Amino acid sequence: MWKPPQRIKFHSQLGQPPSAEQAQASRLFSPVSVGPLTLSQRTWVPAMVPWRSNDEGWVTEDVLQWYGRFARGRPGAIVIEATGIRDVPSGPLLRIGHDRYVEGLQRLVQTIHRESQGHTRALIQIIDFLNIRRRPEPAKFFERFLRITPRLREALGAQDWSEEDVRAHLSQMEPAQWPTVLDAREWEALHMGARERVTDTEWPHIQELPQVLPELFAAAAGRAQQAGFDGVELHYAHAYTMASFLSATNVRTDGYGGGREQRIRLPLEVYGAVRQTVGPSYVVGCRYLAEECIDGGHTLDDAVWFGEQFARAGMDFISTSRGGKFDDAKQPGVGSSAYPYTGRSGYECMPQYLSDEQGPFGRNIAATARIRSAIRAAGLDTPVVCTGGVHNFEMAEAMLERGDCDIVGTARQSLADPDWALKTSLGLGHQVRLCEYTNYCEGLDQKHKQVTCQLWDRQDLDEPGLRKSIDGKRRLVAPDWNPPG
Ligand SMILES: Cc1cc2nc3c(=O)[nH]c(=O)nc-3n(C[C@H](O)[C@H](O)[C@H](O)COP(=O)(O)O)c2cc1C
Ligand code: SF4
Repeated sequence: MWKPPQRIKFHSQLGQPPSAEQAQASRLFSPVSVGPLTLSQRTWVPAMVPWRSNDEGWVTEDVLQWYGRFARGRPGAIVIEATGIRDVPSGPLLRIGHDRYVEGLQRLVQTIHRESQGHTRALIQIIDFLNIRRRPEPAKFFERFLRITPRLREALGAQDWSEEDVRAHLSQMEPAQWPTVLDAREWEALHMGARERVTDTEWPHIQELPQVLPELFAAAAGRAQQAGFDGVELHYAHAYTMASFLSATNVRTDGYGGGREQRIRLPLEVYGAVRQTVGPSYVVGCRYLAEECIDGGHTLDDAVWFGEQFARAGMDFISTSRGGKFDDAKQPGVGSSAYPYTGRSGYECMPQYLSDEQGPFGRNIAATARIRSAIRAAGLDTPVVCTGGVHNFEMAEAMLERGDCDIVGTARQSLADPDWALKTSLGLGHQVRLCEYTNYCEGLDQKHKQVTCQLWDRQDLDEPGLRKSIDGKRRLVAPDWNPPG
């Protein structure tokens, strides 16, 4: 992952943990309304893909155990990882693109409700993403994948050559010459792996995204409701389809790109279709980017305006993230695909302990606070969830006290210690295992390996019945913690 050149080391701190009485009286441990739903406290575990599903996208026993473990820490809400809305193979990512998935998802909801003893609400993040290919071997690329176009022939001065000769010639060229004859997308396909964009409207399946996505999202949300989820989160963040429509890089000319009014059109139409399917009293919100953090990306002004429009449209919550784009991703190795958390925007999404003067903690707060205050200024009370580097009670409580947000998201801190909020609420905050923001977990995600935390994944490996990672070396969920008494 990209790191700020300053490389200043930061250490997470426990802060001043509250007594049980102080916790009882705190904002963090007070209830909050999210549309028709009440969360018992303002702690929120945002979506995290742990690579626990299988190639068919089922809810496996490992998926149940993973979320059951978070639920035992009794956060206000858990958002299930990005779950695909299409019925197409997507590797071991959870799927909700067909009715056959409803039964497994039902078991997942029941697990969260049961393991949290009814304290935690279960939401699911639903996602669409476009195709991305692995970085190819140059020889294979020239032999099979590259289309030999008249433009390319002209660039090579090879108008009369056979296609075979053009391919052989390219293969044998000095690699430094390739970017001089390939166009930008061909060069990207070779040195990064080909990646579809929402602006590739010459392809019918991209052109018709505005016609097909509302229905696909709506059907998926309907299944989430059928499975008993307490709500859905539309994934409008990071490197994926809906965020790409919102992005300032979206220059589609069909009314769904260009100015921000056009860029938000599909996200609002998707929301409208979802709302129509699930009805007025079911929780629907979205996660989107307070800042894209890429050159030419949308500004905070755009994000503030988007937030206000989402709230006006009737969304029940708004959750923010930042960065996490393909646009500045690092070159992957041959045979791997680009990962949207390797560039500067990736750092902004999941900042680690080596940082700049600002540090890795709370980088999303100021932007989120501006979005929330615009929503409030518009007379709307939509709750706002802020996530990013939050790891102790003091910090979370201060965010709520200042009015930066209404709910505090903790992804890696919850992974490091799923009981952090429970311990804190009982006055046992000094027992919290603090995330060190090393991004070991994110490295596993990048390699599509089962995600675990380095602070606990080698502990008590001889525990009877323990489920371990494929290589047998790591436990898959944090050891249990039993509250005293
Ligand atoms: C392993 C891993 C997987 C993630 N998967 C998702 C995801 O599916 N959807 C999403 O919106 N964010 C995802 N994120 C981003 C987190 O939700 C969160 O925004 C980010 O980690 C910053 O918050 P933190 O500092 O509390 O960890 C993931 C993060 C990690 C570490
Ligand atoms: S591996 Fe654990 S300690 Fe390291 S960043 Fe991830 S959650 Fe935090």
